[in-house]
Amino acid sequence: MKIQPIRGTHDIFGKNLDKYNSICDEVKRVASIFNFSEIKTPIFESTDLFSKQLGESSDVVLKEMYTFQDRNGESLTLRPEYTTPMIRAAISNNLINLLPCKIFGIGQMFRRERPQKGRYRQFNQINFENFGTKDSFADIELILLANKILSTLLPNIKIELYLNSLGDKDSLIKYKTKLSTFLKENKKFLSKESQSKIDNNPLRILDSKNSDDQLLISKAPLLIEFLNKQALKQYEDIKKSLDSLKISYLEDNSLVRGLDYYCHTVFEFKTKSLGSQDTLIGGGRYDGLIANLGGKDIPGIGWAGGIERIMLLMNNTETSLNLIHFAILDEKFREHALFAYNLVAKKNYPVFWNFKYNLKKSLSKANEANAKYIIIIGEEEFNINKYKVKNLITGEQNLVNIDKILSFVK
Ligand code: HAM
Repeated sequence: MKIQPIRGTHDIFGKNLDKYNSICDEVKRVASIFNFSEIKTPIFESTDLFSKQLGESSDVVLKEMYTFQDRNGESLTLRPEYTTPMIRAAISNNLINLLPCKIFGIGQMFRRERPQKGRYRQFNQINFENFGTKDSFADIELILLANKILSTLLPNIKIELYLNSLGDKDSLIKYKTKLSTFLKENKKFLSKESQSKIDNNPLRILDSKNSDDQLLISKAPLLIEFLNKQALKQYEDIKKSLDSLKISYLEDNSLVRGLDYYCHTVFEFKTKSLGSQDTLIGGGRYDGLIANLGGKDIPGIGWAGGIERIMLLMNNTETSLNLIHFAILDEKFREHALFAYNLVAKKNYPVFWNFKYNLKKSLSKANEANAKYIIIIGEEEFNINKYKVKNLITGEQNLVNIDKILSFVK
């Protein structure tokens, strides 16, 4: 029986793993510049952690969680997102005693969505959170950080930042009531799917990609008109700072995000180069969430980005530039070659044992692998106890003793 991978999951190896690793390296580099510390949390948590806070009528909770009963009857869920587990971990480990608490995490998430390009059932996220500050500096810093990571990893991709403010929870509740009345009055113009969301979650209809829904939404009351003075000022401050940092953004008053914990600033980095799964990074403020999870009543803000979506847009990285191929042209030269192979590997150069091919094939294998050097061990080299070291970039080659090899591959 041939066992197939589970639908919506994938193995990461070869060039894709190089991309995955370079994303993680860049994330860690930028995290240390801005003083975020890494945290790793378990892949499964108590189901309550997600079901109450992400929104009982959100798609994630309604349709997408991998939930199962443990042998003792406890309900567990494979984490569909990282914000709530990171808050849970910060509370469990008293990390929020010293504020602001700035943490980041990289790891697998699980959502039972319909798989397509850029959308998987197991996927990886990078995730940054800042707990404990109301100051709009935290919003700016997180946007700056996301911008820095994306522009380093994807220098040639056009990415746009979409921005909105949901205001405080009270304004949002008032707006929801107004929106739902408007949608009820115009129900017949909505798609069937959106009609079913009017009572439970009218905000989610603003996200709809259906063209009839879009037309009606363009005539719906605007959220911005429900923001109080203070929320408007907070939003204006953020826009002013982005302007002065020359980070361009598009205001999108229908940007509400798919999870229920947000308030005030919400943002998404999107690209037209990916097809329908076009959001690379999404996040926002969630003042109130930490208290709801049993922590202090402190504000929070963060974002998460999809590693696979970033990988889809990255060029293949030239990772093996210092690679040294050993072309061993016959079994007889094995010991002679092994001696040099061990010496070079001991000095931490990446090596490849290119065994028993003819010289032409060996060279083409080395070129394919992007190797920088090839060390050839054939009849001539064996007989005079030397090695032929060829630089595949300059074409220069030298016949050398074992003790000279290292000076030629530097
Ligand atoms: P989210 O928008 O649900 O937000 O996901 C963030 C990012 O994860 C998306 O923009 C996308 O790049 C990636 N992503 C989501 N679902 C999938 C999938 N099925 N396959 C591949 N990639 C996917 C959150 O998760 C929030 N916790 C973000 C946040 C952090 N808000 C505040 N702090």
